[in-house]
Amino acid sequence: MKNYLLKCEINGEKFEGLIDPNMRLIDFLRDEIGLKGTKEGCGEGECGACMVLLDGRAVNSCLVMAFSVSGKEIITIEGIDKTKYGKKLKKSFKKNAAVQCGFCTPGFIITAAAFLEEKPDATEEEIKEALSGNICRCTGYDMIIKAVNEAKK
Ligand code: FES
Ligand code: FES
Repeated sequence: MKNYLLKCEINGEKFEGLIDPNMRLIDFLRDEIGLKGTKEGCGEGECGACMVLLDGRAVNSCLVMAFSVSGKEIITIEGIDKTKYGKKLKKSFKKNAAVQCGFCTPGFIITAAAFLEEKPDATEEEIKEALSGNICRCTGYDMIIKAVNEAKK
């Protein structure tokens, strides 16, 4: 039942409305707001496909309840250009053919955007470590790490 009044900011726009308090953040974003760029892979906090920024921190939106983001700022892949490294990361992923399957890409870019803001001088090893919560089972991490490394310049 929609009986919780949620007030938050999503990609720079204010949201205020009643939601089901049992709803996860990923379902709220995809099904209520229509932001389908956030993907559900495992649904258990293991794959990173569902990453969004919550007050600048990358979180698994499948593990966060929507009501708990009250008063917070959410950035999804649709709003990634608002972050310092968003545009650079998108350009670099394209240039380095790091999109690969495409399904996991929003999660990788969200994680990388948060990480580079925290550590703009990160080494390739540190980037690899930072992306360890984002699972790729197709092509591997080489091009993704290269793309993130280039985006920091
Ligand atoms: S869908 Fe959330 S971590 Fe996999
Ligand atoms: S990028 Fe999606 S499985 Fe490799």
